[in-house]
Order: sequence, then structure tokens, then C-alpha cells
Amino acid sequence: MSDTTRTTPQPPQGVAPAGDAPAGDAPASALAALADAACAAAEGAQTEEALAEVERTYVGKKGSIRQRMSSLGQLPPEARPAFGKAVNEAAQRVEGAVALRREALTAAARAAALSAPTFDPTLPGAAPAPGAVHPLTLIDWRLDEIFRSMGFYVLDYPEVDTDYFNFEGLNIPADHPARDMQDTFWLTNGNLLRTHTSAGQVRAMRQFKPPFKAIFPGRVFRYESTDASHDHTFHQVEGLFVSRHVSVAHLIASMKTLLSEVFGREVTVRLRPGYFPFVEPGFELDISCLVCGGSGCSVCKRSGWVELLPCGLIHPNVLRAGGLDPAEWQGWAFGLGLSRLVMMRYQIEDIRHLLGGDVRFWAQFNGSGLE
Ligand code: DAH
Repeated sequence: MSDTTRTTPQPPQGVAPAGDAPAGDAPASALAALADAACAAAEGAQTEEALAEVERTYVGKKGSIRQRMSSLGQLPPEARPAFGKAVNEAAQRVEGAVALRREALTAAARAAALSAPTFDPTLPGAAPAPGAVHPLTLIDWRLDEIFRSMGFYVLDYPEVDTDYFNFEGLNIPADHPARDMQDTFWLTNGNLLRTHTSAGQVRAMRQFKPPFKAIFPGRVFRYESTDASHDHTFHQVEGLFVSRHVSVAHLIASMKTLLSEVFGREVTVRLRPGYFPFVEPGFELDISCLVCGGSGCSVCKRSGWVELLPCGLIHPNVLRAGGLDPAEWQGWAFGLGLSRLVMMRYQIEDIRHLLGGDVRFWAQFNGSGLE
């Protein structure tokens, strides 16, 4: 120790003071002297380690002050209480001095660390990585907005559904070959992961009094192997319009509005016949290729058209399943491949990027909105 201001003589640190006087031999003053020495040693400790050593030496379990207690038995009984008290007081005094010094050392260490030239409190901290909205969500929000502006409800239906809503009620009975078009994840209780958002059609008809318009976006599942254009989990948006007089012209006009809004420019569409058991007639709606403008490129496989959206007029059996009289009510429905739309909108070449969980992928869409 190098403390030159010390006034009280003290033994070398870590060593119990030699020649302890036997207890009873002017015990109180010997104790006081020992405590003085200990306090001085504590006050003079320059490091946390040195202070701990002082503490151990004097007031640790085997420290010289606590050790005094062991000689209590050699004292005449009447002297014992006073001596015990004196030992405790001496120990407490030293512990107090140690605690004080420890506080001072800690404060000094903190001050030293703060003023050290290597620490610059004005440096910026580690910036938290900014979050980003997934492109699927971006397009979904946009679609919700567009359809709401046209008077559609935006609904949410279960991802785990019954055979009835996913197939049977959509005019696809158990033995119907159209079931083979959609490989299905079956649950052991006979329910399934919905293979398409069309599963919400009959639910919606039962839920709302016609006329009504609704879309229901969501995740769908297929038990199939994956490649650049197929995933076991993907997203669709179903649309439904039920009213007394509904025509294919309404359908085309709504789809054109929707697609022109999403792509931010006029989109040319065409209808081809398509077969789906829940619509009659059924169509495939193609859009003229936005990459080449219709002249033919690799995206549209040189045809000038991209298949985007199956649709049709609701089959009478489906209206019946929804509790509606086909003589009174008509409707159209469409099933938009949301994942495919996102891929086209952002030119994403592999569908597996969408749900692959790689944050580098959607970090690219940070704040991009649908500008
Ligand atoms: N649910 C069909 C599928 O996933 C797509 C579909 C076709 C939906 C025609 C419709 C429709 O609403 O009218 O393959």
C-alpha cells in the first residue's frame, strides 16, 4: 500500500497482526487498537482486491477480530457479555469502514472509466435494424383498400376448415375428380387445411344477407412438392359478389379496376373458358404481359398474356349450399393468386422467397409501399 496520509500504524495486509494479546488482558483496548488498524487499512486500500484482503484479514470468519470470540470461554463468566459486545462492535466498525471504502473505490472506478480517452459517449449507439412490411402484406393492404372503395367487405375465414366448406359445398363431392386438382393436408379428425380461399364462399353466403360483396384474403395449403412456382403454403384472395342481377361484364369491369390499381396503369384483360366445379360458366382471366406489353417475352412464355385469375358465375348448387335460391340470386366469384400477383408486381422469380424467412429478402421492401 502506498497511502502516505495514513496515520494509524497497521500490520502488513493479508497477515493477522502478530502477538494478539490474550483475551482479558486489557481486552477492550487491544480490540480497539486492532479495529483502528483495520479501519486504517481499509481506508488506505487502493484496489478492490486489497480491500477484500483487509476485510478477510480482520473481519472474515477467520479474521483476527472475529477470532477473538473463540477466547470468550477463557474469561470469567461476568466478563463475557461485555467482551462479546466489544468484539461485535469492533467488527461492525471495521465492516462499516470497508463498506465506505468500497463505495469510494467503485465510484472512482466509474469516474475513471467515463473519463478514459477510449470511451466517447457522443458516439452513436448500435442502430436497431429498421423493420419492413412483407410484400405480401403490402399488396394485401392495397387490395383491401381498393375493394373497400368499391363497397366490398374484407373478411377472414378459418385456415383449418371442414371438408364441406372446402369441397362438398362448392359442388365438389367426395368422388368428384376435381378433388385430385388439389392435394390436401388432412387432419386426423377429418378436417383439413383449406386448399383455397373459395372455402369461405358458402360461409359468407350464410353469414350475410344478399346483396353483398366481399373479399377474403388468406393463406392456403397444398400437399405438394415445391419448386420456383409452387409452395405448400401460399396466399390467395377470394372475391364474391351476390346480387339479383349479376353479369360477366360486372366481373370484368371489377377485375380491370382492381388490376389497373395494383399495377398503376391500364391493364388489358381477356377471358378464356376454364373449368371449376363451383362456377358456371368458369373462366381464366389473363392480363396482357406487363413486362413486354403483349409482344411476347420469357415471362409470358412468348404468348403476350399472363394467366392470373380464375373466375366465373357462381354455380346454382353453391348458391343453394349458401342457403340462397338460385332463381332469385346470382353472383360471381374470383380466386386471385395473391402470391403470384406479388411476384409479378415485384418481379420475384421464386415463390419460395415469400415465406422462406430470410430477412434479407423483405428488407428490400423497407418502406417501399406500392409507389
Ligand atoms: N379456388 C380455385 C383454386 O384455388 C380458384 C378459383 C377458381 C376461385 C374460380 C374462384 C373461381 O372463385 O370462381 O384453384
